[in-house]
Amino acid sequence: MANRWKNTLTERDVTPEAAFLNRRQLMAGVAGLGLMGAAGRAQAEGEDLEPNSWEDITSYNNYYEFGTDKGDPKRYADALTIDPWSVRIDGMVDRPGDYAFEDIMAQMTVEERIYRLRCVEAWSMVVPWNGFELADMLALAGVQSGAKFVAFETVLREDEMRGVSRPVLDWPYIEGLRLDEAMHPLTIMATGIYGRDIPNQNGAPLRLVVPWKYGFKSIKSVVRITLTDTQPPTSWNKAAPREYGFYSNVNPNVDHPRWSQATERRIGGGLFSARIETKMFNGYEEEVASLYKGMDLTKNF
Ligand code: MTE
Repeated sequence: MANRWKNTLTERDVTPEAAFLNRRQLMAGVAGLGLMGAAGRAQAEGEDLEPNSWEDITSYNNYYEFGTDKGDPKRYADALTIDPWSVRIDGMVDRPGDYAFEDIMAQMTVEERIYRLRCVEAWSMVVPWNGFELADMLALAGVQSGAKFVAFETVLREDEMRGVSRPVLDWPYIEGLRLDEAMHPLTIMATGIYGRDIPNQNGAPLRLVVPWKYGFKSIKSVVRITLTDTQPPTSWNKAAPREYGFYSNVNPNVDHPRWSQATERRIGGGLFSARIETKMFNGYEEEVASLYKGMDLTKNF
């Protein structure tokens, strides 16, 4: 895959995994010098997160616009045209408009974030994303003081997305965050994986990643971001409100009505590997628990 943006490494340089190892050694040095930001430190201090392979991350996907089988996105998502691409940022912002992807990229600093990804279906991976903080992207448009929520929308193209002919969800896929969640330094827009441009099946050219929430909050191929003062509707909550709340924080103590959320299966561990315990806020409790102080997380699930 060509490397169009600032996801710096090309296939010619090294294999993605080898490149990643180099970076990891670099990280260790940086951590020693105390130069790393809060998010990087959190990664370094926790368990040594062993990322899944490129193959795992890019062939076992949920992207229902291309079909509901885990292999469908890899099979069919190349039909999506991702260049040109722009994101409309509107609502309660000072500078509403269509922001061309390359103009956004020119103003953002891309960094690597190794995050756990926990799907509501009780499987998980560890993904070395490349991306930038959503807060930095929103600053381009200037968030107004009255804004309280952020709504997101995935592109909808019937001619390129073979799955949208079926009413699995009410298309386009939509998601939302509270403004403080959106502004949190762990919340990123991902544009790469393993230093390569993010593949279509993972949500090219840019997708949200909110690591302490179930994976379905991390909406793919974003074309619109709207700042608002009211809580926006979200696709899975509309489809099954009893099963999927607005918050959808990873929580081993609150089961899905049809299955336990206490444990998860790490993809790539082999069919018979032991399940691992799901962590509160997917392991990011220290960083994000304060956002929900005083809230009943069984009601605000
Ligand atoms: N975004 C869109 N537009 N459509 C989807 O079906 N699936 C979600 C989320 N974002 C989905 C989506 C779910 S359920 C998960 S677990 C993650 O994407 C999966 O991301 P990945 O395929 O990159 O692992």
